[in-house]
Amino acid sequence: MHSQVVSSLGAGVGLRLQHLAAVIKDRPDASWFEIHPENYLANPYAAELLLEIARSYPISVHSVGVSVGSAGGIDRTHLARVKALIDRLDPIMVSGHLAWSTHEGDYLNDLLPLPYHRESLAIVADHINQVQDALGRPYHLENPSTYLGFADSTMTETAFLAAVVDKTGCRLLCDVSNVHVSAHNLGYDPYRYIDEFPGEAIGEMHLGGLEIEAEANGGEVIIDTHSRPIDGHAWDLYAYAVARFGARPTLIEWDNAIPELTTLLDEAAKADAVAASALKSGVRSARAG
Ligand SMILES: [Fe+2]
Repeated sequence: MHSQVVSSLGAGVGLRLQHLAAVIKDRPDASWFEIHPENYLANPYAAELLLEIARSYPISVHSVGVSVGSAGGIDRTHLARVKALIDRLDPIMVSGHLAWSTHEGDYLNDLLPLPYHRESLAIVADHINQVQDALGRPYHLENPSTYLGFADSTMTETAFLAAVVDKTGCRLLCDVSNVHVSAHNLGYDPYRYIDEFPGEAIGEMHLGGLEIEAEANGGEVIIDTHSRPIDGHAWDLYAYAVARFGARPTLIEWDNAIPELTTLLDEAAKADAVAASALKSGVRSARAG
């Protein structure tokens, strides 16, 4: 049932705890919402509100705790708790990052990068197979925002993602803002990255705000803070990606300094407008813009 719904979706917004009551009361004109299951697992009251919202809006589940990049293995207890919520929500999509955030049972606050080579590919593919088997649904794997590269990587990130899709049949979540952030920080061309991205596997896109910090050496590092409106460079790259791949359900991610819901919905409307214009203009004019 949900595959037809997904193809017609426009831009959605992240649903945060402080907006739950307002969504139930005001029924805003939102296409869909994305949630982090970890916010609801220990909060039964919030989970009940979420289930009520899920009766009226499509919901996408984006886990920040299923650590498919951890060499120590998947936390099956956590995965089972996420699955229990997913089974109640029947979401349109389930996603998570190409990263690791657990080590020997400890949860770290960051989504940490991993090197891209044959050994890490085997680990990630095995973990995604486990997650997809456990959930009984395709998993959407998201490209991370990165601040450093690994000398022992033997594959590009896009080649790694394509290989994971090949081995697992998983889908991809293309976070366009993460591409902009990583390309700036690691010094590569974000448009070339989009050109090389396995676009047919994309089930969802993300856009999130960022902040620029000065470095001691006079350079600038871009931090993926999800705390501000979408950056102009990310809008341009998004238009390019949509023109190249076609429109996909796109999420406005705003997780810190969270504004009124209307501000998020305005950003989602802008994403719909940018996507419509990109589809009309095509790849060349999107890149020129
Ligand atoms: Fe994202």
